[in-house]
Amino acid sequence: MADTESVEEQEVTPWIVRGSEKGINYSKLIDQFGSQPIDPPLLARIERVIKQKPHRFLRRGVFFSHRDMELVLNNYETQKPFYLYTGRGPSSEAMHLGHLVPFIFTKYLQDVFDVPLVVQMTDDEKFLWKDLTLEETNRLAYENAKDIIACGFDIKKTFIFSDLDYMAQRREFYENILKVRKLVTFNQVKGIFGLNESDSTGKIAFPAVQAVPSFSNTFPDIFGKRKDIFCLIPCAIDQDPYFRMTRDVAPRLGYLKPALLHSTFFNALQGPKSKMSASDPNSAIYLTDSPEVIKSKVTKYAYSGGQDTVEEHRAKGGDTSVDVSYQYLTFFMEDDDRLAEIKEAYEKGEMLTGELKKILIEVLQNLVAEHQRRRAEVTDEMVKEFMTPRKLNFSC
Ligand code: TRP
Repeated sequence: MADTESVEEQEVTPWIVRGSEKGINYSKLIDQFGSQPIDPPLLARIERVIKQKPHRFLRRGVFFSHRDMELVLNNYETQKPFYLYTGRGPSSEAMHLGHLVPFIFTKYLQDVFDVPLVVQMTDDEKFLWKDLTLEETNRLAYENAKDIIACGFDIKKTFIFSDLDYMAQRREFYENILKVRKLVTFNQVKGIFGLNESDSTGKIAFPAVQAVPSFSNTFPDIFGKRKDIFCLIPCAIDQDPYFRMTRDVAPRLGYLKPALLHSTFFNALQGPKSKMSASDPNSAIYLTDSPEVIKSKVTKYAYSGGQDTVEEHRAKGGDTSVDVSYQYLTFFMEDDDRLAEIKEAYEKGEMLTGELKKILIEVLQNLVAEHQRRRAEVTDEMVKEFMTPRKLNFSC
């Protein structure tokens, strides 16, 4: 990196997300990572192929970047099978709204394309990175699986696995990990992930574990020995380094490169400069929050793009580009027309921050209550079935 012009003021890896003053510059990230934007022509093609309006996350740029999505659409059009792969690092019991975003979207993709899904719970990763025991991260994998199941995945088409458990169940998983490790050097891991000589060898060896669910023969129960079933990975953009590495090694192993759909980050209530964290319960809306707690968190903490006084707000209007309540609505309010009305009214100063927050509170209260209702219906037997290696309702 001799060119000082390109010294990055933003850094995005799976463990560090650092933007500039104004937050993350996503189009710059596309350049940095070498992915493709999800642009209007691609959106139009998606709409033609699936014969319906694309998901609001696509319409509104929540999923904004991709790799090889055209190939996925080609496959679908020619009725070639593919599968979905996503995951979660089980580091805490407390999942928040941001954690739900990739799963809501993955559930939509499963419905629209009618394809199998594998969900990796990286209990091994969280053991290596956090101060947690293996027993604890493994327990959290099963706890978090309930929240994932509550998103509505099809039990006949979905396999959720803990790395710790699946590693002991299917040798194909470890074989693929070894094949990847044989090709990836320490220098590459340093370059791709920003790890260095002082990091544990556990961390340095881990990336292969997240790579190999991209290869269909990692799942013999679902795909048999086939290594040519194409994989699509919906994930937040910070996970892309794993899959750049995966795409780099895939051809040398005779495997297909996985396709990707990348999302932006979900901001903390306090806005893009602060991070949602389990140590500050007021930084996020948790899936366990009561309607009262949701109301008070949004009221007290959601960063406002409104003006300081009502008079000033009526005169100048609010700034939806920084207003967290408005941003949350872009994620969770389905109705495009209603959202556009709100934007206009808020920017003109006709709508006050309190009114905007009231709308958001209702949307979130419904969403979270609905999630809690579905989670309460998830039994231990269901978790066990989702997490047992087995044939899925899929033929190839
Ligand atoms: N490393 C991810 C996390 O900490 C979990 C994960 C594993 C994942 N495999 C994935 C996320 C595939 C997205 C896609 O949350």
